Amino acid sequence: MSMDTPFDTNLETLERLRAEAAAAGGAEKLKIQHEKGKLTARERIELLFDDGSFEEFDALKTGRGGALGDERSYPGDGVITGHGAIDGREVFVFSQDFTVVGGSLGEAHAQKICKVMDLAVRVGAPIIGLNDSGGARIQEGVDALAAYGEIFHRNVRASGVVPQISCIMGPCAGGAVYSPAITDFVFMVQDSSCMFVTGPSVVKTVTHQEISAEDLGGAVVHGKKSGVVHFTAPNDVLCLREIRRLFSYLPSNNRQRAPLLDLRDPANRVDPALDYLIPDNPNQTYDMNILIYSILDGAEFMEVQPGFARNIICGFGRLGGQTIGLVANQPAVLAGVLDNDASVKAGRFVRFCDAFNIPLIALVDVPGFMPGPDQEHGGIIRHGAKLLYAFTEATVPRISVIVRKAYGGAYLVMNSKHIHCDVNYAWPTAEIAVMGPKGAAEVIFRKEIHSADDPEALLNEKINHYRRTFANPFLAAQRGYIDDVIFPRDTRHRLIRTLQVLEGKTAKGPERKHGNIPL
Ligand code: HXC
Repeated sequence: MSMDTPFDTNLETLERLRAEAAAAGGAEKLKIQHEKGKLTARERIELLFDDGSFEEFDALKTGRGGALGDERSYPGDGVITGHGAIDGREVFVFSQDFTVVGGSLGEAHAQKICKVMDLAVRVGAPIIGLNDSGGARIQEGVDALAAYGEIFHRNVRASGVVPQISCIMGPCAGGAVYSPAITDFVFMVQDSSCMFVTGPSVVKTVTHQEISAEDLGGAVVHGKKSGVVHFTAPNDVLCLREIRRLFSYLPSNNRQRAPLLDLRDPANRVDPALDYLIPDNPNQTYDMNILIYSILDGAEFMEVQPGFARNIICGFGRLGGQTIGLVANQPAVLAGVLDNDASVKAGRFVRFCDAFNIPLIALVDVPGFMPGPDQEHGGIIRHGAKLLYAFTEATVPRISVIVRKAYGGAYLVMNSKHIHCDVNYAWPTAEIAVMGPKGAAEVIFRKEIHSADDPEALLNEKINHYRRTFANPFLAAQRGYIDDVIFPRDTRHRLIRTLQVLEGKTAKGPERKHGNIPL
């Protein structure tokens, strides 16, 4: 890109440079981008923001070229940066342009990203990264690696200050995956994107395994198995729409509250069907989503990581117009037990909500932690401790509703009174106990049962006795461990009233640099 020609005025030079930047990698590369089913970096920005609200920075910035003797300089250096509005609220963005050197990240490219990240933190606005890049620009060597480090540094400094969202809309390899991994939520487009630390060719060289990019790090793998990705979408357009939807639930920074949105759903709406949600047989499952969609405003719920660790449900909804973070056991999957993945998934979600002033509500039906060597050897002790730690340290308003099982350590972990949730309720169907009736009877009456004439009859008698004594919420209510036993149909109303009363909650922990969550 030359700065001027002999006869250009400055105005003409500006027009020409702008046009060069807008042309990006040229018509042929833009065509290839579309043929891959991907939008261009600029088209994505247009769809992400309110009409006409995008303002670009550094369109004219170019790089210095690389040590490999690449003398070309690229208008905009392969990334578009600036700010725009989502539903009228300002957000900073960088959108990598794959048509320019494969969107690879060089020094100037990274400086542009760092500039908007710095501004985002300074003004308290969220930052969204639209990633479509071949990773560190190979020609720039260590300068490209240093540049990545600057971005990681800013990701960490911005964590818990402004929401950071990453969207994977093309390849994302090597160290490039670690910036998205630090951010709060990762979106991924199916089929056209992938994420891995080392790609299929390196995998083959090192481990002799043949695997496609999709199977190694596609959206399905990361949405269901690894838990790296929080939301997946079938294409760029729907993905960008989902990012806008997520933003409707979030504040712009850690000093603000999420915007109120009145969906015109009466606060005192009761749902009599909830009185019959819990099956008579305690071993029978039901779908926790019925409760979730029943109580939330307008039956609107944005589930986070819906395909990963499905035995726990996390997501955003509204009660009385206010955003809440919801964590619910799902009895329909693995009976709703807490396992390694569920603990980590919910722990991170709880910490996000706490960092950004979003009240937490737990809907509890948990039979315990998943037993067995797989889970024990996989670290259920330290992973379960993450969720315990996250709920315990959270200072936002915290409410729990125990709808059925609340057994043992898992009961304590799931935002119980004993780790200082603010208000908790139980349905009449709640069973709060050290363990389930059968396991308990077998442990405490083992000798009697073994020596009985009819061991099975005695076991059943002991189970029933235990159930009558412990498998209800009344003993806990007598102790004051439950603030009220409520009719299921009133759950929505009670939660909205409780959120109102907790509005002014203040909580300050002891002075310290930071706690030491069991990572
Ligand atoms: C420089 C790159 C590049 C890179 C792609 N290009 N990646 N240029 N540095 N990292 C260029 C290509 O040379 C090509 O230029 C153009 O971008 C488009 O690339 P293609 O290969 O033609 O596209 P496609 O077939 O779609 O393949 C995309 C790709 C592949 C899968 C991303 O290009 C690829 O594997 N790139 C290398 C990925 C990688 O290993 N990156 C380094 C990761 S390590 P022309 O001029 O021909 O159009 C890393 C370390 C970070 O990132 C560490 C941080 C701590």
